[in-house]
Amino acid sequence: MLEVENLRKVYDTGDEALTGVSVDIGGREVVAMIGPSGAGKSTFVRCINRLTEPTDGTVSLDSEELTGLDDEELRVERRNIGMVFQEYNLVERLTVMENVMQGRLGYLSNWAALRRNFPPEDIERAYELLDLVGLDGMEDKRVDELSGGQRQRVGIARAVIQEPKILLADEPTSSLDPETSSVVMELLTHIADDRDVPVLINIHEVGLAERYADRILGLTAGELVFDGTPTELTDEAKDVIYRGETFDDTSHSGVDEAPDQETAVPETAPLLED
Ligand SMILES: Nc1ncnc2c1ncn2[C@@H]1O[C@H](COP(=O)(O)OP(=O)(O)OP(=O)(O)O)[C@@H](O)[C@H]1O
Ligand SMILES: [Mg+2]
Repeated sequence: MLEVENLRKVYDTGDEALTGVSVDIGGREVVAMIGPSGAGKSTFVRCINRLTEPTDGTVSLDSEELTGLDDEELRVERRNIGMVFQEYNLVERLTVMENVMQGRLGYLSNWAALRRNFPPEDIERAYELLDLVGLDGMEDKRVDELSGGQRQRVGIARAVIQEPKILLADEPTSSLDPETSSVVMELLTHIADDRDVPVLINIHEVGLAERYADRILGLTAGELVFDGTPTELTDEAKDVIYRGETFDDTSHSGVDEAPDQETAVPETAPLLED
């Protein structure tokens, strides 16, 4: 269970990117964080694993407080947080297998890591994962020979092989075409189920969030203004999150959206009070 309490980030420039966000994420839920550009979505995810240092507040994972750990403690604890990036962050000249195995480096001693001396069970796990993400047989390909969707599957396999307690994805689909985006979202939801971990996905495409997430968080100007199910995400709620700005719902096109009167319009949307 990820517990975030009053998370605040003020950058050196004076920008207050997060104004004090509190939220718990647990189980095997797929949580999509939406909100306009500059709302603080990336900052939120980066503050969780302290790629960005929060200014205030606490982040705990299974009761272990991450904020406050020293560098060495943080290095160990980061193994529990899988990260999937928009631009994949792979090592281009290495193979699929070599990239996936990077997710196990944090578990090796320095000497073993230097020699890339992975135990056989790690290699076995990597093959299983390549199968899971649909890349079986591609282990020896260099990643610069792969399509965007295939690269993102490598990125996901690398994050999952860490055996994390939570998977965080920052715009994992925004470099991908709509069809591949759907495949990647499906894969992330499958992993939540298969690995029994929560998945938090920052995403621009509201339609994808609605289709694949169990729960949606709406962030606006560093403030959490919505926390509810896709069904509860009414047009009114979207207006509050996007403050009247247009939002990207392109992934709706071509999808049969005939609303079910009973479930599509909840009486009250779970908009959060100021
Ligand atoms: N390294 C930084 N230094 C200073 N300000 C920053 C830095 N990174 C982000 N910001 C500012 O913090 C705010 C939140 O940015 P962030 O990247 O978290 O938003 P976002 O919701 O991820 O946006 P997008 O949807 O465009 O990715 C913005 O005002 C941004 O300009
Ligand atoms: Mg971002």
